[in-house]
Amino acid sequence: MENLIPNEEPLRQEYFMSEVNDIIHAKAIDRGVYPTYKVVTFGCQMNARDSEKLSGILSGIGYIEAETEEDADLVLFNTCTVRENANDRLYGRVGQLKKSKEKNPDMIIGICGCMMQEAEEVEKIKKSYRHVDLVFGTHNIYKLAEILFEHLTTKKQVVNVMESAEMIVEKLPNKREFAFKSGVNITFGCNNFCSYCIVPYVRGRERSRKPEEIIDEIKGLVADGVKEIMLLGQNVNSYGRGLDEEISFATLLDRIAQIDGLERLRFMTPHPKDLSDEVIDVMKKNKKICKHLHLPLQSGSSEILKKMNRVYNKEGYLDLVRRIKAAIPDISLTTDIIVGFPGETERDFLDTLDVVKEVRYDSAFTFIYSKRSGTPAAKMDDQIDPKVIKDRFDRLLKTVQDIAAENTKKNEGKCMPVLVEGKNDHLDGYLSGKLENNLTVHFKGQERLIGEIVDVILDEAKGFYYMGHIKTSEA
Ligand code: SAH
Ligand code: SF4
Ligand code: F3S
Repeated sequence: MENLIPNEEPLRQEYFMSEVNDIIHAKAIDRGVYPTYKVVTFGCQMNARDSEKLSGILSGIGYIEAETEEDADLVLFNTCTVRENANDRLYGRVGQLKKSKEKNPDMIIGICGCMMQEAEEVEKIKKSYRHVDLVFGTHNIYKLAEILFEHLTTKKQVVNVMESAEMIVEKLPNKREFAFKSGVNITFGCNNFCSYCIVPYVRGRERSRKPEEIIDEIKGLVADGVKEIMLLGQNVNSYGRGLDEEISFATLLDRIAQIDGLERLRFMTPHPKDLSDEVIDVMKKNKKICKHLHLPLQSGSSEILKKMNRVYNKEGYLDLVRRIKAAIPDISLTTDIIVGFPGETERDFLDTLDVVKEVRYDSAFTFIYSKRSGTPAAKMDDQIDPKVIKDRFDRLLKTVQDIAAENTKKNEGKCMPVLVEGKNDHLDGYLSGKLENNLTVHFKGQERLIGEIVDVILDEAKGFYYMGHIKTSEA
């Protein structure tokens, strides 16, 4: 039988998907129902996209999505490890599932993603969480069917973590969370090694997908009804490095913007150190590219930025923002900021506030510095007192919120296109959607509008979101 198993991908995985499908089908006949799965996702958009791929494989082999993890026959935790204490939360949930597994001995529990790239976490599972059946990392999510096959045929705990990525496997199934929008990977991994960040260690070296693979995928998604694409990479600007064809991110962006039927195009994350003028030009000339940039600042202090290994300084960042605003005056800027990096003085913190006040972000993710073991910053002297960090964090948040509220207020009364994302969870008869700048708008409307782009009048700004009403012709 060994001889029949293809070595080439994706053929090999297609083979295992078909094998597992036979097993699942037989089980379904036996039990009278198909087994169910739940993928639980932590972390960033990369993980969200990976989870769609995992769900795609599971649906492809016969599993049906369950409502909750407790009543699923297969639960897969796709983990994040960017903050030091992330594992507490995970193991709490994995521990709780032990009871569900006692009731349903056929239940399969898997853990994958960034945390599984850390050897000590894998050891902990092997030793203390024997009820976990599948363990794999970020580099081999495409092998889910093969890993599951091994477990189903041996009933053993299968641990399959690769230290680095061998290749990019294309053309495997995926199941989108939203019918009308999708993330699309353009690069995997990261080469930047910001001193606080674990991502390069758990996601490996940067690799770019071939442009034709990306464009084919997007054309397929658009044909399937997708209106908005978000290009994903830890530093999208460095797209193209290592490919045979010489191609920059700006060129890729321009080519994608030409795809017929695509209505909105976004990307995340551009590293400020190499956001080129060409990218700004392409954004300026293509209407489909959302006038929104998420431009992580991390700190406004040149001294701290140096210690963070971010490569740009305060002036460089501000200069970039000025160039962007000059080219695209109504651009919306958002950011990520870390408070309390080792050695951060009050002066350094004031530099951060300074940048926030000059750039005037529409929103910002503010993070308390986490001493992430395994990163160079965790070994730095001068870790900051949590009380001081808390005080700075509160001041930063207040400044960010005040500015965001002033910015959103300015658009009150304006009519803007909104991609309708779904029913409002709290208000009956209301829908929620996203503006081009990614801010949320709630408004009355019928469910049939979900997935459509409609014109909405922004009646009232509420800080980071709006209440509005649909322009009459579309209600
Ligand atoms: N590639 C992206 C960010 C990916 S991680 C970039 O370069 O901007 C997402 C965010 O998590 C980062 O922007 C950073 O603000 C935050 N982050 C990463 N490591 C952190 C740490 N040790 N403590 C606090 N926040 C951290
Ligand atoms: Fe982490 Fe820096 Fe890479 Fe972003 S660019 S993923 S912050 S190392
Ligand atoms: Fe993302 Fe967390 Fe991994 S931020 S890349 S899921 S460590």
